[in-house]
Amino acid sequence: MEFIIIHFSGTGNTELISNKIKQRLERNNHRVDLISIEDIDMLKTIDFSDKVIGFGYPVYKFTFPDNYLKVFPVLQEKCRNNTCFQFCTYARFTADVFYDFSKKLKKLNFKLIGQKSFKSPSNGISARKPENDYEYENVMFFEDDITRKIDDFVIEILDNINGHRKIVQKKPHILAPLRLKIVKDIEITKYPKLQIDTDACKNCGLCAKKCPDSNLVNQGDYIEIVDNKDCLHCLRCMHHCPSNAINFGKLTQGDNRYTIKKRNCFFEKSAGGHKERYWEDFDRTRAIWRKNTIKYWWKHRNKPEKELVDCKKTRTHNKL
Ligand SMILES: Cc1cc2nc3c(=O)[nH]c(=O)nc-3n(C[C@H](O)[C@H](O)[C@H](O)COP(=O)(O)O)c2cc1C
Ligand code: SF4
Ligand code: SF4
Repeated sequence: MEFIIIHFSGTGNTELISNKIKQRLERNNHRVDLISIEDIDMLKTIDFSDKVIGFGYPVYKFTFPDNYLKVFPVLQEKCRNNTCFQFCTYARFTADVFYDFSKKLKKLNFKLIGQKSFKSPSNGISARKPENDYEYENVMFFEDDITRKIDDFVIEILDNINGHRKIVQKKPHILAPLRLKIVKDIEITKYPKLQIDTDACKNCGLCAKKCPDSNLVNQGDYIEIVDNKDCLHCLRCMHHCPSNAINFGKLTQGDNRYTIKKRNCFFEKSAGGHKERYWEDFDRTRAIWRKNTIKYWWKHRNKPEKELVDCKKTRTHNKL
């Protein structure tokens, strides 16, 4: 069988899981191509007929990242009733991400035969909290026995393709739209504007090359921050900067950032079947987060609009 895995990954968690799924399928003698959603030109050249498509993405603000939307028109033109599966990486709450994404797949007449979420380290928290912080400790890990879960997922996908099984989605809670609004408001307050430390920057251009949203443009002798309000906050620029020159406010300065090295350490730990974190602990922590989040939102509920107005007013051009 031939598979195409289409994925988006800001800081590498989803990319890693996509690669592991690919390797697992290849071990079963299937052919797999892995494509990042930024390679939209490449997507346009693919012949999708009879191929099974996998979609991978991180959970952003309780749903899938906005930039995924540009993939659907391409698929609409190129695909007819394909079989597909979806998976996500998340740090705390998947919310209704599968429901939201499968609505898009349904419009394209795709047949969804598998879906799985993979608890992963939080790229955002690693930039906002120090390593000895309670919140950091409770969110910076891949779930236990993750390789086994990936293996089981691949077996399930293959069984479901052969058994013609289809996934039926659970409908979201009636308060889901309010929950989405709360999370979106909070995200804005938590990420101040992106800044480039011109003294630390070595002008390598990597951030501009990696930015999935063309928010950073390499102008040769300086990086232009085109428009902060369109920034996805995927943290990829900060994650890749070799000089710690990019920050999203005071708490993201220094080298507390989430790096590929850190990700690989976390992954190896859980792949080895470590049992430091149990789901009951995580559920307890999530209950506390839920309560604190509502309190935080109520306290800051007028701040997001203020921040957005500021962003619209300032088109930042940082000379290096
Ligand atoms: C802007 C933004 C929003 C996020 N929102 C959520 C969320 O709503 N729920 C969650 O569990 N994790 C959330 N996360 C954490 C990521 O989903 C998680 O760390 C993911 O594994 C990152 O994947 P990546 O490394 O492939 O980008 C968010 C991360 C970012 C950057
Ligand atoms: S500028 Fe924004 S969208 Fe671009 S890489 Fe950085 S965080 Fe992501
Ligand atoms: S901010 Fe970092 S990644 Fe971007 S050009 Fe400067 S050194 Fe390179």
